[in-house]
Amino acid sequence: MCGIFGYINYLVEKDRKFILDTLVNGLSRLEYRGYDSAGLAVDGDKKNEVFAFKEVGKVAKLKQLIEDEKPDLTKVFDAHAGIAHTRWATHGPPSRLNCHPHRSDSTWEFSVVHNGIITNYKELKTLLGSKGFKFETETDTECIAKLAKYLYDQHPQIGFVDLTKAVITELEGAYGLLIKSVHYPHEVVAARKGSPLVIGVKTQKRMKVDFVDVEYSEENGVLPAEAASQNVALKKQSGSLLSPSGLLGAPDKSLLHRSQSRAFMTDDGMPMPAEFFLSSDPSAIVEHTKKVMYLEDDDIAHIHEGSLNIHRLKKADGSSNVRSIQTLELELQEIMKGKFDHFMQKEIFEQPESVVNTMRGRLNIENKSVTLGGLRSYIATIRRCRRIIFIACGTSYHSCMAVRGIFEELAEIPIAVELASDFLDREAPVFRDDTCVFVSQSGETADSLMALRYCLERGALTVGIVNVVGSSISLLTHCGVHVNAGPEIGVASTKAYTSQFIAMVMFALSLSEDRASKQKRREEIIEGLGNVSAQIKEILKLDQPIKELCAKTFKNQKSLLLLGRGSQFSTALEGALKIKEISYLHCEAVMSGELKHGVLALVDEALPIIMILTRDDLFKKSLNAYQQVAARGGKPIIICNPSDEEFQASQAEKIEVPRTVDCLQGLLNVIPLQLMAYWLAVAEGLNVDFPRNLAKSVTVE
Ligand code: F6R
Repeated sequence: MCGIFGYINYLVEKDRKFILDTLVNGLSRLEYRGYDSAGLAVDGDKKNEVFAFKEVGKVAKLKQLIEDEKPDLTKVFDAHAGIAHTRWATHGPPSRLNCHPHRSDSTWEFSVVHNGIITNYKELKTLLGSKGFKFETETDTECIAKLAKYLYDQHPQIGFVDLTKAVITELEGAYGLLIKSVHYPHEVVAARKGSPLVIGVKTQKRMKVDFVDVEYSEENGVLPAEAASQNVALKKQSGSLLSPSGLLGAPDKSLLHRSQSRAFMTDDGMPMPAEFFLSSDPSAIVEHTKKVMYLEDDDIAHIHEGSLNIHRLKKADGSSNVRSIQTLELELQEIMKGKFDHFMQKEIFEQPESVVNTMRGRLNIENKSVTLGGLRSYIATIRRCRRIIFIACGTSYHSCMAVRGIFEELAEIPIAVELASDFLDREAPVFRDDTCVFVSQSGETADSLMALRYCLERGALTVGIVNVVGSSISLLTHCGVHVNAGPEIGVASTKAYTSQFIAMVMFALSLSEDRASKQKRREEIIEGLGNVSAQIKEILKLDQPIKELCAKTFKNQKSLLLLGRGSQFSTALEGALKIKEISYLHCEAVMSGELKHGVLALVDEALPIIMILTRDDLFKKSLNAYQQVAARGGKPIIICNPSDEEFQASQAEKIEVPRTVDCLQGLLNVIPLQLMAYWLAVAEGLNVDFPRNLAKSVTVE
């Protein structure tokens, strides 16, 4: 939730127009994370002056506001720090006041942008209120800016990092935050706990420090701490807390030691002209530089005079503060819409390639073998585990549901599929011999992340199935598989679903590699996977007929049922979620076998129904539901295999989807439902990529 972006230039002359454009452009790349309001803070015309611009609505409105207010765009800065934010409201409705940056006081001594939730903000507000601070917003974030001022006023000699440590020591909850202050001109401090932050670095000359690019290590599943420390990029001494006694305690001088190593210098030791881009994710950085560093929880990054120093919140907490600079593999065109009208549409149409990318280098069709490097050292342990628990939210949860059957069949291990929030609410039992698999596109979803920590505390083996490289889930799990679907920007997940599905089928195949009795089945599935890309291409040819069908059938409808059985129930769940979130049409997924237990009462000639009736072992049973609907005058749209004799004589509208192995059929069946959701939303004139009330990465509980 929320996107934060910062831009700092040092010894690189930039005019205000460039700085504002860079910040606004960064926000527009992050807009999918939250889009109910946006704001930014930059230096004013005079010393110690801050210009802040805030607007309700999308980033384009902020841009317009800046144009209307006509700041002097020609003013040149050879050193400057600007921070910006695009919001998904949690505390307080979208309004100019509640929009970030938040300030310490009317002169903006401290400005803060924040992603996450400060859970003890009420206590902090009360405390700071008793010290004379007047709060002007309903947000949790404002207390961070006011707390910084309060602590600074107590200790005006304090350095920016120590001040930040003192501030965040008092915060409970989750944050990715940037602080800018008139007391530390041209500097920014970034801190992270639970909300992602990445820093892009652009220097004009070669850097003196050796940057070693660290690629995602398949061997280790995630970027291992050892790899980071072997690839020394930025070495620092550890940072310190201002005062362990917190808000009201006096600073403990013995703890005051600063790390001061310089990261960016020319060969003769002079500060190097540099630009830094701080962002919630790399999509806002890639057009400026591909050299990035991901912050870890409890990191504090200090950017000042062309240097970037990493400090740890707690002195000697055992964690290294060495962070490697990595090279982004992202290309700018991957995060642009290209010839498509919406990101969602582009991502639906990317699926023939994205599914191949998931399998590339892993699936060998000729040898009928699967190699998942990121799991290799753990597969034997997983085979012996007591059970596998899949934990996820939303669409990622549906992909887990979709593969449950094939895991049970191939691995013969008890499988549970859990919604992360419910799993935590129940404090479900987890044991050391459990394997917990966390499936997430973003790798940052708060519920899944908390469930991951919960399982780690209980000693379970954890596996990540994640799209975003360097995300929290990919860093915290013991091992895993990156699904390699490429950046997914549309808020409604599409290509991540199909890639997660395939990554998990490959996982199940790896688990059953040693079973002679499963070889035939494995070969059938591997062959099926080899055809999936071409079959998706075939289905995408139905784009226009589906558009027309939607216009004809669903106009002015209020509700829709989507029926599936067995693993097609997960397809129904996923299709219904897509339709709801993008077109706002109520759509309920019903397990066909459950129809007669209540939902059948809704069925009449008028209620729109879609039934998934592709061939599998349950086909006969699925037909029962079809008969039950038809007998009540219902006229379902049928998703079936081409020329299925069962429906030859039927008058029903049909969407024909190529046949594949039963356990892969859901991969294909979901595509027409994605297209339906898309066209329903377009027909209503809705904002497909930015559905109301939602955000792409849900980093709040
Ligand atoms: C729906 C959608 C959400 C996400 C859910 C989990 O289209 O995108 O339901 O699937 O918020 O997000 P990740 O997969 O990032 O953990």
